[in-house]
Amino acid sequence: MDKPSTVTSNHYGQPNLSRLIDTALRDARLLNQTLDHKLISAIDQFHIGGLRATMDMIRLANFMPQDLVLDIGCGIGGPSRTIASECNCKVTGVDLDLGYCKAARSISKSLRLSNQTHFIQANALNLPFEDRSYDAVWTQHITMNISNKNALWREFYRVLKPSGKLLMYEVTCTSDDKEKIKYPTPWASKSEDSFLENIHNYKESLNKCGFFIEHLEDVSSIAKSSIKSVIERIKQNGQHKPGLEIVLGDRFSVMMENLLDSLNGDQLNVVRLLAAKSS
Ligand SMILES: C[S@@+](CC[C@H](N)C(=O)[O-])C[C@H]1O[C@@H](n2cnc3c(N)ncnc32)[C@H](O)[C@@H]1O
Repeated sequence: MDKPSTVTSNHYGQPNLSRLIDTALRDARLLNQTLDHKLISAIDQFHIGGLRATMDMIRLANFMPQDLVLDIGCGIGGPSRTIASECNCKVTGVDLDLGYCKAARSISKSLRLSNQTHFIQANALNLPFEDRSYDAVWTQHITMNISNKNALWREFYRVLKPSGKLLMYEVTCTSDDKEKIKYPTPWASKSEDSFLENIHNYKESLNKCGFFIEHLEDVSSIAKSSIKSVIERIKQNGQHKPGLEIVLGDRFSVMMENLLDSLNGDQLNVVRLLAAKSS
């Protein structure tokens, strides 16, 4: 049985997050400029590769204007705002962490995107939406927090319209030998809270649930060079702000080192996937 609220609040919870974000933006003199989603991407794109990874996924998604997109495990809403701004879609972000949802709403308000992005605290395994209500479900770096992947796919399938799209950008493991993976990582403080699976299991269970995989790409080498440049930036400048350090705290740099080690050691992969719900 999943207990995701415990897992995520222990790992992700960050008191006064909205205030920290406001302060960081002000310190960087960003609050005085006309904010747009690109300007604050150092803070609000909470996954490997940041804005670039989101833009690559948007190209793969080929959204239509006014598509209804559900961003599951939306964090503080960077990808939701990017989809809304770049594609003119209406995006609902869902996250377990109430502080993240509040921060997401507050940033969207500053960017005048409140009418196109909405954020709701909910569990991905029990979504408060009607059957067949979304054109696309989008996830970035959340499935590693959820052990019952079959239940997750069933929920995705339920809320998608017929022929709806599932887009995922996730970290997978390469074998069942997970002992060598070092923690903390950006998604878990310890191995007990990390539910990594290999890509074959993803494919098999998604197919069984009724998804047809249209595109699957291993993007580990792009991920590695992006992590390397973050580590380099921290070494040269210290933990400069604003950055993901605000969301992940002081352990950010050790998380990046651990992640790079596990990718270099071939214990982890980063994958991008597009699947369609059978109609
Ligand atoms: C690594 S962050 C990624 C955030 C966002 N997708 C992004 O890329 O900017 C993972 C997020 O998943 C959320 N999460 C984990 N388990 C969840 C669940 N069962 N239901 C909803 N959100 C969950 C966490 O609270 C966290 O915000």
